[in-house]
Amino acid sequence: MYSEKVMNHFTNPRNMGDMENPDGKAQVGNPTCGDIMEIAIKVEDNRISDIRFKTFGCGAAVATSSMVTEMAKGKTLEEAEQLTNKTVAEALDGLPPVKMHCSNLAADALHKAIQDYREKQKKEG
Ligand code: FES
Repeated sequence: MYSEKVMNHFTNPRNMGDMENPDGKAQVGNPTCGDIMEIAIKVEDNRISDIRFKTFGCGAAVATSSMVTEMAKGKTLEEAEQLTNKTVAEALDGLPPVKMHCSNLAADALHKAIQDYREKQKKEG
């Protein structure tokens, strides 16, 4: 029922864990199942130089978060903002329809982490 890519990212998640002193950070909750996802980023020269995720979600959520971190790393903030839940699910060769809601967290958390970074920049002036 899951694609090989989903299984690969689920069994061997990339960029999972904590980050010390992130430049931006966000947590989002999935209204459908109540699961939580957190993404933290480091930014250098307007590019995402490092990224970590943590999730209490299911296997599909782990796979989508892992994939979104891989896709976002090295991208400019503007490029990373173009990533959507749909492009992430497509990069995983799709998700079973009942699991599509699990992919809603990853790109949302990434966008919010970028927002958090921008707000911090503004405050620091
Ligand atoms: Fe909650 Fe998949 S069931 S993220």
